[in-house]
Amino acid sequence: MYKIAMLVSGSQGRGSTLQNMADACEDGRLPGACVVAVIGSVSGSTAIERAAARGLPTFVVSAKPAEDYDRRLLAAVKDAAPDAICLAGYMRILPDTVLAAYPGRILNIHPALLPAFGGKGMYGHHVHQAVIDYGVKVTGCTVHFVDPSYDNGPVILQKPVPVEDDDTPESVGARVLAAEHAAYPEAVRLLAEGRLRIEGRHVRILPRA
Ligand code: GRF
Repeated sequence: MYKIAMLVSGSQGRGSTLQNMADACEDGRLPGACVVAVIGSVSGSTAIERAAARGLPTFVVSAKPAEDYDRRLLAAVKDAAPDAICLAGYMRILPDTVLAAYPGRILNIHPALLPAFGGKGMYGHHVHQAVIDYGVKVTGCTVHFVDPSYDNGPVILQKPVPVEDDDTPESVGARVLAAEHAAYPEAVRLLAEGRLRIEGRHVRILPRA
């Protein structure tokens, strides 16, 4: 079984990404995979509640005190012994210790076509509002490997969606979310199949063996 740990943050987030990943493990999009842990920083957050209601194992690692957060988070991740770690609305820079323990196995999804509309403070409706304010005709989502900067690691997959003249942050966000829910399991499947090779900033997708 290919084991996935999902990391979520505080009070942000709806938990749709972890729900979709768990669904993908059961509906054939991610064969032989399962979500073994959902780790959040606040008990009772929507994402943690949704994971628990879905029957997924949930764990809370408080971000306070900050001094030993990295040690406690790493311990919780290691307990789950995941093959891959998927950030799902995780709002912090991942501690170096966690990054070092799982090289090439930590993914994030961002609701825009990076490097546009990414970086600190670019999350949720802020992203889609910025997209509309700028007047771009196309946005989308990006799945990328995680490095020590916000929304910065090598890009695995991107899916574009159109921005319509009368879009609101909500309407374009819903279109992007549907693309995210297709892209994230697809990227995890490629990782699980050993088909992602990182070459500097580039991720080569290898053909099926
Ligand atoms: C998603 O839009 C994802 O791109 C971003 O955080 C959001 C999480 O959504 N990184 P949800 O809480 O899983 O619904």
